Amino acid sequence: EAEIAALTDNITSLADLRRAASRCQLCPLHAPATQTVHGEGDPNAPLMFVGEQPGDQEDLAGLPFVGPAGQLFDRALEAAGIDRSRVFVTNAVKHFKFEPRGKRRIHKTPGASEVYACKVWLDAERALVRPALTVALGATAARALSGGPVRIGDVRGKLMNWADGARGFVTVHPSYLLRLTDPDAKQAKLEEFIADLSRVRELT
Ligand code: URA
Repeated sequence: EAEIAALTDNITSLADLRRAASRCQLCPLHAPATQTVHGEGDPNAPLMFVGEQPGDQEDLAGLPFVGPAGQLFDRALEAAGIDRSRVFVTNAVKHFKFEPRGKRRIHKTPGASEVYACKVWLDAERALVRPALTVALGATAARALSGGPVRIGDVRGKLMNWADGARGFVTVHPSYLLRLTDPDAKQAKLEEFIADLSRVRELT
């Protein structure tokens, strides 16, 4: 608690937040990762999207959703009529968790303790941006925001409230769409994702 207070005290702007989160050591993920990947976008955005954690390319670039999942997300946002520059995009966990395999770094899903540790930064981002609607992309973000395990199928596509009462919405993670191999299934799921994002636009 004292450690968290020492890190998060006196944060009154996103610049303060970036400085503090850059030196975070609240969980072991900071050591192998290249850098903290902070949220990015309109500091007054009415709409915030929360992903899982940075991937390989995000870790290197220091920016969220710039790799393959980010490119798919950008296309889906555009199809739904949402301007990415007008929203705030972040992740539940701000360091890349991976397993080295040869020269490659293989994504590993963050665990509950890492999600919990990193929640101080997600909470601080939400307190500063104060979006009217916070959208979880996938189960890790939904767990961080709701405070417990979530099954996407149970909550997807409905307006709901997060643990702190703020307005929320859950949809799938764009990486899930990338992993689908059957082209017809992939197209159908992409259209459902775009439909969810269109609903999000209507709600904001
Ligand atoms: N997947 C995520 O959840 N976040 C990113 O920033 C990139 C890929």
